[in-house]
Amino acid sequence: MADLEMNKLFAAPLVAGVAFMGAGLLGELIVHPHKLERSAIQIGQVAAPAAAPAAAAAPALEPIGPMLAAANVDNGRQLASRNCSSCHSFNDGGRSGVGPNLYGIVGKNHAQAAGFNYSAANIARAGKPWGYEELNAFINAPARAMPGTRMAFAGLANPQQRADVIAYLRSLAANPVPLP
Ligand code: HEC
Repeated sequence: MADLEMNKLFAAPLVAGVAFMGAGLLGELIVHPHKLERSAIQIGQVAAPAAAPAAAAAPALEPIGPMLAAANVDNGRQLASRNCSSCHSFNDGGRSGVGPNLYGIVGKNHAQAAGFNYSAANIARAGKPWGYEELNAFINAPARAMPGTRMAFAGLANPQQRADVIAYLRSLAANPVPLP
């Protein structure tokens, strides 16, 4: 009788161990842990060719200038309303929210809205105007174009959408800046 009790004592951890290993194996079979080949964020940015060389540098951004003449301001307004208006107002004299008011932003200097709490990264560029290509790069990937920016927005990866939004931003002025 005492022997049997001892056997049980030894058997218990053994069984537990086998069960634990089994569960691990089973889990692996079901889940197939598999490392992503690239980070999910990059995938959106990489253009068509699937077998693109694993270049470390981000792909160069096509200039937006040539797309602006044919861009759709109305679509840009809708995109801005959907993607930007939670943080930005667009009307003349509009209040800044999480982000600064953007009326007349094309051609204005960086960090232009009085009293807004800009990042040091943006203030460092306060002497430079927001041209079309600066806006293009910033809206494409804010954190990449301006490391340290406070604009917590992933970016619009689609060039047509960026062109439409930038054309809309350009329209927000009494005398819009000439097209490039
Ligand atoms: C989650 C909030 C948020 C969203 C969404 C957002 N922004 Fe911003 N944006 C900010 C903040 C905050 C700043 C200030 C950035 C800084 O100082 O680094 C900013 C700055 C900017 C600036 C520079 C303004 C200046 O005075 O220098 C532009 C241009 C801009 N945003 C455009 C856009 C556009 C276009 C969209 C939509 C496609 C957008 N933002 C979406 C928060 C946001």
